[in-house]
Amino acid sequence: MAIGWAPVLPLLWGLLQITSGNLLQHNSTVQVYSLNGKWALRNSNSSIKLYGDVPGCVHTAMFSWGLIKDPYISFNDIAYKWISHDGWIYSNEFTLPPNIRCASYNTTDITKYVSENNYVEIKFQSAVEWAKEKSINHSYGIPPKCPPDVQKGECHVNFIRKAQCSFSWDWGPSFPTQGIWREIRIEAYNLVNLEYISYMTAFDNSTSQWIIIIEPVFDTIAEKPLEARVAVKVPNLYLDHSHDVIIAPGEGTFEIIIKISKNASVNLWWPNGYGMQSGYNMSVTFNIGTEQVIQKTTKIYFRTVELIEEPISGSPGLSFYMKINGVPIFLKGSNWIPADSFQDRVNSDKLRVLLRSVVDANMNALRVWGGGIYESDDFYSLCNELGIMVWHDFMFACSLYPSDDWFLDTVKAEVTHQIRRLKSHPCIIVWSGNNENEAAIASDWFSIPSAMREVYVQDYITLYIKSIRELVLKMDGTRPFIASSPTNGKETIKENWLSKDPYDNHYGDTHYYNYVTDCWDWKSYPRPRFASEYGFQSWPSFSTIAQISSPEDWSYTSNFTEHRQHHAGGNMQMIDQASLHYNSPMNSDPIRKFQDTLYLTQVMQAQCVKLQTEFYRRSQSEIVNGLGFTMGALYWQLNDIWQAPSWSSIEYGGKWKMLHYYAKNFFAPVATSSFEDNDILHIYGVSDLSKDCSFKLALEVYKWDSLVPTYETVTEDFIIKSQSSGQIYQETVSELLQRCNSTRLNAVLVYYLLHDGEIYGSKNWHFLSSPKEAEGLLKSNITVNQGTYVFTLINSYPAAFVWLDVGNIAGRFSDNGFLLIEHKTAIYFYTWKPTTVAELEKALHITTLRDIY
Ligand SMILES: *[C@@H]1O[C@H](CO)[C@@H](O)[C@H](O)[C@H]1NC(C)=O
Ligand SMILES: *[C@@H]1O[C@H](CO)[C@@H](O)[C@H](O)[C@H]1NC(C)=O
Ligand SMILES: *[C@@H]1O[C@H](CO)[C@@H](O)[C@H](O)[C@H]1NC(C)=O
Ligand SMILES: *[C@@H]1O[C@H](CO)[C@@H](O)[C@H](O)[C@H]1NC(C)=O
Ligand SMILES: *[C@@H]1O[C@H](CO)[C@@H](O)[C@H](O)[C@H]1NC(C)=O
Ligand SMILES: *[C@@H]1O[C@H](CO)[C@@H](O)[C@H](O)[C@H]1NC(C)=O
Ligand SMILES: *[C@@H]1O[C@H](CO)[C@@H](O)[C@H](O)[C@H]1NC(C)=O
Ligand SMILES: *[C@@H]1O[C@H](CO)[C@@H](O)[C@H](O)[C@H]1NC(C)=O
Ligand SMILES: *[C@@H]1O[C@H](CO)[C@@H](O)[C@H](O)[C@H]1NC(C)=O
Ligand SMILES: *[C@@H]1O[C@H](CO)[C@@H](O)[C@H](O)[C@H]1NC(C)=O
Repeated sequence: MAIGWAPVLPLLWGLLQITSGNLLQHNSTVQVYSLNGKWALRNSNSSIKLYGDVPGCVHTAMFSWGLIKDPYISFNDIAYKWISHDGWIYSNEFTLPPNIRCASYNTTDITKYVSENNYVEIKFQSAVEWAKEKSINHSYGIPPKCPPDVQKGECHVNFIRKAQCSFSWDWGPSFPTQGIWREIRIEAYNLVNLEYISYMTAFDNSTSQWIIIIEPVFDTIAEKPLEARVAVKVPNLYLDHSHDVIIAPGEGTFEIIIKISKNASVNLWWPNGYGMQSGYNMSVTFNIGTEQVIQKTTKIYFRTVELIEEPISGSPGLSFYMKINGVPIFLKGSNWIPADSFQDRVNSDKLRVLLRSVVDANMNALRVWGGGIYESDDFYSLCNELGIMVWHDFMFACSLYPSDDWFLDTVKAEVTHQIRRLKSHPCIIVWSGNNENEAAIASDWFSIPSAMREVYVQDYITLYIKSIRELVLKMDGTRPFIASSPTNGKETIKENWLSKDPYDNHYGDTHYYNYVTDCWDWKSYPRPRFASEYGFQSWPSFSTIAQISSPEDWSYTSNFTEHRQHHAGGNMQMIDQASLHYNSPMNSDPIRKFQDTLYLTQVMQAQCVKLQTEFYRRSQSEIVNGLGFTMGALYWQLNDIWQAPSWSSIEYGGKWKMLHYYAKNFFAPVATSSFEDNDILHIYGVSDLSKDCSFKLALEVYKWDSLVPTYETVTEDFIIKSQSSGQIYQETVSELLQRCNSTRLNAVLVYYLLHDGEIYGSKNWHFLSSPKEAEGLLKSNITVNQGTYVFTLINSYPAAFVWLDVGNIAGRFSDNGFLLIEHKTAIYFYTWKPTTVAELEKALHITTLRDIY
């Protein structure tokens, strides 16, 4: 009997199935034997032998046996490069029940299987060497050859379907892992196996009713078609449906379409902040002949998604925004990268902490970025559960790629697998072909000789348009597809998939970075339809850095500090940007000075991203000089892959940087923001609420040396319209200052909303000068009374960027990094792991801006 083999390059697409084995006795059930567990592991010349866990990889196996230290420590990323340059062999002996026979089978590729009865060996050639060979064999070069030196990475990652960032990135190390990193199992069957099943829902506009589309993929060994009866039940929708189906021989799929009664009132799945994430239990049962029963239970969700690109009056170009269940939604969030270089260290608890932090910061969306991996099933289930919309790139980033048959074949297998696996998840709202590869050609990142341009353009179109797009459209009609990010959407299509300027703010999404210009200058920001990437770097906190470094590393100019920075000039850029507004750390204790410097980079980042994001939210309802109607702000980047400087708002390990606390406020459902234009102060209100809502605005001016406001006022009632932004206050700064007998240098403005006489949301503030020029700013005098997970701060003077830090104790504060103008404030600590009051008290350290110089 012929036995099908899974393709052998599944490094990127997760589940490695050895669909070997057939049943000697006639037995129509599918028997599954997990091969997870301890495997023997050796390098190519057998000089190193050990056991390794599956799922797992060589690095973590060697670390767990003490053969190497934690690869993240110190300069180990360089010291352990040899591991990825060697070949590694996993082998396993296993015992199958006597009624299962395994066929012997060999395949060749980067992974080689050698399997005999009850013995399997998987040989991994070095991914680095393999990619290099592939590039040499290719008839022309595909840029970029190598990453910039500062990344200390490996070359030719574009020739291998493996996490593109595993060969290094500007925020991450080079650890091109080898190993069986997802589950592995034998599925044995004589009749038929259900390889995949996906569930989608759609709203049929013509009949005004919901439909469920169930798509099984069967592998049928039988030579004749099988008759089966499928039964679908959704108890809470009173759905109990069955009909006959024919399962054809070979591998194949068909659709089961079920209409939901129009009478049924279907509860919808909504993004975080817009409603519940309602779903329904469903069971699907296939009775195949009289012999085999296959039953699956799942949760299905109902929601629609549309990408709206239409003309806007007063603005050339097209809109670009998402409608969920018919409601236009401003996407608030960030970009997701792999949570670890070694995916076997990521489990659902760690994912939960990170994704919980996403919704705790009032985000509703993440972009799963194209240089990483298709995440685990847990990731998407958590996003469904938490209401996080996912913009999903296919895994191609910042590079050109080949388009030969061997490459397209592996990509097609990858895309087919991933769509089958993922399309059931309502959280995924858009597929995107790649990250920045349209831009790479359009802006000629790689200085391509003009004679070659057309070749690369054709590669691009073959890969993303003729292959990936084609497959996506065929396999998933329930969500939009865009070819790249940034893209001009429909305009890109009009320009034959490669627009002249993919960064055009009149169309689609844009990425924008500028570290040199003063980030307080809102006029420097583009006003796009959708900001899908922007950001500033910062360093993780000292407690995170201390875990992987030694005292001699603890200065901002150490080799280590230089080594960890993978973005050319990054450390200096942070200092230069910070020095525009803040004094430099001056502490005579070098370690304290280092800690203060890390703190200052977080102050800089938090304030920059705050101002930029506020600008994007203000632009939601405005057209200025033909630009605006911004409907998304996803800053770069949410999380870290290791302990290093990066654009992230959450450190490796889950600790919130100052930016993440700020995100909670600037992404609040109702938020305020201020800016100045020619000495006129403007304050805006922005609301994601589904109803118009009435507020008053309170303004207070404080001199830096006193907690008693020198001026306070409350406006009349005004309305902030549902899902819009607009001005709620305006005054010239000089008049305001005159009224309160203050100057730009000696005062700061605080403002907040009142609703029914209560403070609504968080207080916001407006610096009237750079804090480095502030007059009267005093060293903090904050004392702390501690209760159970609550710190009461007693304060004497206004203090800026007040930062509470409890080192590595897992959890987060209710607020942090704030402007403190209260005499007494309670700050809560939410623990993620058990801790004690004594531990917290011991660990607490408070830093304010004035304390560092
Ligand atoms: C098929 O295999 C299953 C699991 O080993 C066993 O429980 C069942 O009795 C077998 N059926 C037949 C018809 O042999
Ligand atoms: C085996 O390979 C290791 C690692 O690549 C190398 O250091 C060692 O010298 C090799 N040993 C022999 C005997 O070739
Ligand atoms: C598989 O490869 C091994 C070693 O390369 C060889 O000994 C064996 O005969 C091969 N088996 C088959 C079925 O080709
Ligand atoms: C490169 O080409 C050579 C010669 O055709 C071939 O033997 C080798 O397997 C190729 N390498 C890869 C990684 O495909
Ligand atoms: C379905 O109808 C709604 C309301 O008329 C409309 O907004 C939406 O665009 C339609 N959807 C599709 C996919 O045609
Ligand atoms: C749906 O509503 C119609 C008319 O209101 C009614 O005749 C019918 O019985 C209902 N169907 C179900 C399944 O409740
Ligand atoms: C759905 O199924 C889960 C797990 O099987 C169960 O815990 C839950 O109660 C069910 N929900 C409903 C509404 O029946
Ligand atoms: C820092 O790196 C330089 C160049 O790599 C080296 O010469 C120097 O010894 C290193 N210093 C320390 C303290 O490790
Ligand atoms: C205004 O401020 C100045 C200096 O801060 C102070 O000397 C003066 O008394 C103040 N005037 C009033 C009217 O408060
Ligand atoms: C510092 O704070 C303490 C406690 O609140 C207070 O008693 C003391 O007067 C303050 N010192 C200064 C210089 O303000």
